[in-house]
Amino acid sequence: MSPYTPPVDTHEMVLIHRVLRREFGQLPRLFRAAAGDRARSKVIGAHAREMLDFLHTHHTGEDELLFHLLRERAVLDPELMDRMDTQHAQVDDAVTAIDAELPAWTASADPAVGGRMAAVIDAMMPTLIDHLAEEEQKILPIASVTLTQREWDALGKHGMSAIPLTRRLIILGHITEETDDAERQRFMRILPTPARLAYKLIGHRRFTRETTTIRG
Ligand SMILES: [Fe+2]
Repeated sequence: MSPYTPPVDTHEMVLIHRVLRREFGQLPRLFRAAAGDRARSKVIGAHAREMLDFLHTHHTGEDELLFHLLRERAVLDPELMDRMDTQHAQVDDAVTAIDAELPAWTASADPAVGGRMAAVIDAMMPTLIDHLAEEEQKILPIASVTLTQREWDALGKHGMSAIPLTRRLIILGHITEETDDAERQRFMRILPTPARLAYKLIGHRRFTRETTTIRG
């Protein structure tokens, strides 16, 4: 990249990471509290399914569109990149374990299965938290001066295109939930105007109603 190219604004990934920390952080409690309650397991199961997909897409996007470009172009600490790969694999293992149990639990609310899934997430959280923090502190500053804007945007598009159209406003609510005004405005600026308007008119209300139901 030429020295005159401005750094890419990578802050949107910090907002995505907040969703992952917050939503996975509360899933164990929600799984356990829904024990034996099939109306609740249907709601929590659908939310968990969506968040597992969100996490999986986030990591595959990084594997396919970010890490290899950094490896090609930047001088990276090999231990850091190995750690990133190992952490992705550990988180993937947890996702696979929950994938295997979630459909049956969503239908049955079986307390033993819910307890097992909660324990898998509890065990995964320290790895996920370390991983996200290290990515923010060490990977994003390198990405911002190594990728072009178009390459960075491809990562966002990969994430967005994996979300069904009918769910995008809800995910937007998740991404902007823990933002201050400046962060929210900065993120909203990268969205097409119709999406911004739709969120303002109906999306935020839907998001609030849905998360209130989920969190109980
Ligand atoms: Fe990330």
